[in-house]
Amino acid sequence: MTLVFATNNINKVKEIRSALEAGFEIISLKEAGIDKEIPEPHDTLEANATEKSKTIFELTGRDCFSEDTGLEVDALGGAPGVKSARYANGEPQYADNIAKLLDKMKGIANRKARFRTVISLIMNGKETLFEGVCEGHITEERIGTEGFGYDPIFIPEGAGQTFAEMPLDEKKKMSHRTRALVQLIDWLKKEQQPAAG
Ligand code: IMP
Repeated sequence: MTLVFATNNINKVKEIRSALEAGFEIISLKEAGIDKEIPEPHDTLEANATEKSKTIFELTGRDCFSEDTGLEVDALGGAPGVKSARYANGEPQYADNIAKLLDKMKGIANRKARFRTVISLIMNGKETLFEGVCEGHITEERIGTEGFGYDPIFIPEGAGQTFAEMPLDEKKKMSHRTRALVQLIDWLKKEQQPAAG
């Protein structure tokens, strides 16, 4: 089964591809011949994910999915959350976003945070939402060079290192995105099963 993945983020494509099971394939927007940046104007991850998948379904008519991810920090009342991509200055700049977050967290002892991913799947024209969460905490400084986004300042629960210190194979075992994807795949497998009786 092939699904269009409504993203231009090469890191997200890599992560999702590495976690896919045999029998499932994704193609990126570029590979689907779409050269379009889809806006994320809404106040929730769910609404942004829905906007992206619906836009791609309208353009291609193909089964597709999108995802939107946010980093929710308890001490900051859940910020940056849905605004994670443009936290610092309106443009998606990883280094500036991290610098702003570490600055806001200076001197704060409660560093609990989580990544939350919402996937919107459109299959046969009908939408289904899936969610994946990874609990963890924010470091005092950047550590590691792998991954992308906020990976250098996030240590997932039960791990002794940041996502940016892990090879992709390690991150994918516990990542929010993989957890949402696993639910999506389980759902697809059930849908594909012939009805009993
Ligand atoms: P979006 O889902 O592309 O809107 O991502 C929101 C923000 O969270 C962006 O700044 C991303 O770089 C960041 N982000 C999304 N997923 C991850 C991840 O797995 N690790 C670290 N940062 C992420």
